[in-house]
Amino acid sequence: DGWQQALHKEDRERIFSLWRRHAQDRQPWDAEYRFCSPDGTVSWVMGRAIALRDAHGEVSSYVGINIDITDRKQTEHALRRSQKMDAIGQLTGGIAHDFNNILSIILGNLDMLKRQIDGDEKTLKRIDNIAYAAERAASLTSQLLGFSRQKAASTEPTDINKVIHNMENLITQALTPQVEIVHQLADDLWQTDIDAGDFEDALLNIVLNARDAMNGQGKLTIETKNCTLDETYARINPGVIPGDYVQLAISDSGSGIPFEMQDRIFEPFFTTKSMDKGTGLGLAMVFGFVKRAGGNIKVYSESGIGTTFRLYLPRAGELPETTQTGTVQPDSLTGGQETILVVDDEQALLELVEETLQQLGYNIITASDGKQALAILNSDQAIDMLFTDVVMPGGINGYELADMASSIRPQLKVLLTSGYTEMAVCRNGQARFNANMLSKPYTQVELSRIIRDILGKTQESAE
Ligand SMILES: Nc1ncnc2c1ncn2[C@@H]1O[C@H](COP(=O)(O)OP(=O)(O)OP(=O)(O)O)[C@@H](O)[C@H]1O
Ligand SMILES: [Mg+2]
Repeated sequence: DGWQQALHKEDRERIFSLWRRHAQDRQPWDAEYRFCSPDGTVSWVMGRAIALRDAHGEVSSYVGINIDITDRKQTEHALRRSQKMDAIGQLTGGIAHDFNNILSIILGNLDMLKRQIDGDEKTLKRIDNIAYAAERAASLTSQLLGFSRQKAASTEPTDINKVIHNMENLITQALTPQVEIVHQLADDLWQTDIDAGDFEDALLNIVLNARDAMNGQGKLTIETKNCTLDETYARINPGVIPGDYVQLAISDSGSGIPFEMQDRIFEPFFTTKSMDKGTGLGLAMVFGFVKRAGGNIKVYSESGIGTTFRLYLPRAGELPETTQTGTVQPDSLTGGQETILVVDDEQALLELVEETLQQLGYNIITASDGKQALAILNSDQAIDMLFTDVVMPGGINGYELADMASSIRPQLKVLLTSGYTEMAVCRNGQARFNANMLSKPYTQVELSRIIRDILGKTQESAE
């Protein structure tokens, strides 16, 4: 009958076998399945029924109800997906953190080696090769952190139309001349609080994917508009807060993405491209960017027709603009004579930092965990600066250590380092260490500069 015909092809077998079982065991029947309406829309239904039997116990007819549960199904699906992405984010963040430690050791030791052997061209070349490889690994790690990071480095109310406008050349160059580019940018577009650099990366990633999908020919459309997401939308998209958003839609006329794959494309390392063409981090970074901005991303795609990515970025409130001015630094390693307490649980890294800073003239005391460091801070040793890792085992992390150290010695300068930086910094009340944060892996030049910077400030404020 009509009911059977409406049943989704993929659900038929399962439902019919449930029917057959029900005819025998005489239990009330219930199941969840999909209905297809004549116009092609699919809805999820929960059905409950009981069989009516004749005098011989044979099934003569059924009575039952169908309840539409499409909304609930969509919510469940989106929730599972967001939980999965959260878990992957934590996992990759953790790996990236360990990797940054390891890369710090490799790069730091190479820096030292280079200084030790002057003149030997062949050896220098080898060292450069290793350093190049390690730096590539570092850039991969930073892409990974770009996905798992919780907070943007610096956000500002931004008119994305302007950013897109400035990128026109870049986008044209990324595509072949046979690809037609269409811009439909709304006038009076609201501003959105984003890191413009992150946004450029995200847009470029999507454009590059479109290029790969179009095989050199087709049409790329970039649209912006204001939109308001309501309660209904928020209910079926967990994590979305109803409100005003700036919508960016990028459409291509490429190969499209098969439906089963659409859920996985945002996962790090998910790629359908060959080894040398893609790593599968592009959309993971885009996803990370959108989530950090408090927004949402949607993909709509049809095989053989094309793909649209929609990014929803929250409308900016009336936040004061903050501008940061950088200080110009000399190129060489600058040192000093102050005493620095260095805390890191990674022994090789501790030794490396100790040696580097000693060579620059500093007086170094080391500790391999928070407890040891506190014992030293409680002694009457003269110490000008505490330089500590944020993530440490042994019950006291870098923030807690910095807090305790500041209460023991209010004058003490603090520098934190972490492979996790942004994620850790965004925790409440800890943003005040923002300025004094060095992310791993760092070069020796960066290390020497930031230390001189912080210690220099002390002398100025003391005068
Ligand atoms: N516009 C698109 N059209 C068709 N398929 C797409 C499109 N965008 C993404 N995909 C699919 O999603 C996968 C993941 O994309 P993603 O950008 O994360 O990684 P990648 O492009 O494969 O590698 P990378 O971006 O690291 O170079 C792609 O391999 C591709 O299969
Ligand atoms: Mg890509």
